[in-house]
Amino acid sequence: MNVLVTGGAGYIGSHTVVELINKGYTPIIADNFSNSRRDILLAIEKIVGKKVFFIEADLCDKTATKKIFSDHKIDATIHFAAFKAVGESVNDPLKYYRNNLLSLINLLEIYNELKLDNFVFSSSCSVYGEQEILPVSESSPLSQAESPYGNTKQIGEEIMADTLKASNFNGIALRYFNPAGAHESALIGEYPLQAPSNLIPVITQTAIGKRNTVTVFGTDYNTKDGTCVRDYIHVVDIAKAHIAAIERLINKKNPTNYEVYNLGSGTGNTVLEVINTFEKITGQKLNYNMGPRRSGDVEKVYADTTKANSFLNWKTELGLEEIVRSAWKWEKAINDESR
Ligand code: NAD
Ligand code: WQD
Repeated sequence: MNVLVTGGAGYIGSHTVVELINKGYTPIIADNFSNSRRDILLAIEKIVGKKVFFIEADLCDKTATKKIFSDHKIDATIHFAAFKAVGESVNDPLKYYRNNLLSLINLLEIYNELKLDNFVFSSSCSVYGEQEILPVSESSPLSQAESPYGNTKQIGEEIMADTLKASNFNGIALRYFNPAGAHESALIGEYPLQAPSNLIPVITQTAIGKRNTVTVFGTDYNTKDGTCVRDYIHVVDIAKAHIAAIERLINKKNPTNYEVYNLGSGTGNTVLEVINTFEKITGQKLNYNMGPRRSGDVEKVYADTTKANSFLNWKTELGLEEIVRSAWKWEKAINDESR
């Protein structure tokens, strides 16, 4: 089975490529390296011990994208390729609407034109916005997205729903909560090409000395210690959920041709809990300070994972300790000059 993995050189895509190969699938990576490095391909090959198929293409270029399908028989697609920096999307929304929506539209058009089947779309917990009732389930009504990035995911899901209603191929949207951590080999992980803004890379970059301090954004939230609550999920658990989604589609277990699933651990942790876990697990003293709230942050969000647990037959295997342990191992590996 050939699985097209768009954005397969990126953070979640690279981990998913490894899990696909582990399960006997043949991933075909399509990426334009707009937010990833070419050497990730060698790292994947080192982990799996074989060559991986790779095509350099911009998914916004429909001709180039269609060529992938004429050159290869594609049995399923996992569409990761997108821009994901929330702050940048506020300053340059059209960059986000163009890349994230055009790439999706091109692929779905090609699916219709070539009568293909089995499509998995990377969505995000950011589609939920601020929610009153926790944990959030797939049936929770979506609030207005907090950023153009989040809006591309809301619109992307609507495009998926409308297209699948009018077509007869099958698709799944997966809403990731807060992916973090790295592969146990420390050969792949999140390789920030710009200064990261996500909590765990900010922590590891501070601990290694690339940054001076972690600022805790807000201490007056209505949570157990006043800091925001999020659902951190190990990237390898996320990767494995994609195999479960592909298998549900190819084995025709889905009663409706479009489904949506939360991918989270089901547990909420505060910012201070993450920092304390990092210090405990790594033995590193972290330099951090308390700061004001960051605009656009929701107070708390964590997933109801019942649907994914039941219908994808999937649940997380790795917790917060393993997330910070593997993230720290990865940070040390990418800073090791002798590597
Ligand atoms: P990433 O930036 O590491 O990976 C995305 C990959 O897509 C990169 O390799 C990039 O070069 C490639 N890409 C982007 N636009 C492309 C295009 N037009 N043509 C070809 N390649 C292109 O991001 P990630 O963290 O692996 O995220 C993967 C997906 O998951 C994205 O859709 C993202 O929005 C979604 N997501 C990520 C998170 C997170 O926190 N990491 C959370 C929720 C959802
Ligand atoms: C986590 C918590 C911050 C940095 C983002 C996207 C979301 C999804 C996942 C893609 C928050 C706090 C952070 C720092 C801090 N991505 N924090 N100091 O904002 O929950 O979600 O990534 O789809 O769409 O919005 O993740 O890692 O930025 O923040 O105190 O230096 O850590 O306030 O409470 P977030 P994050």
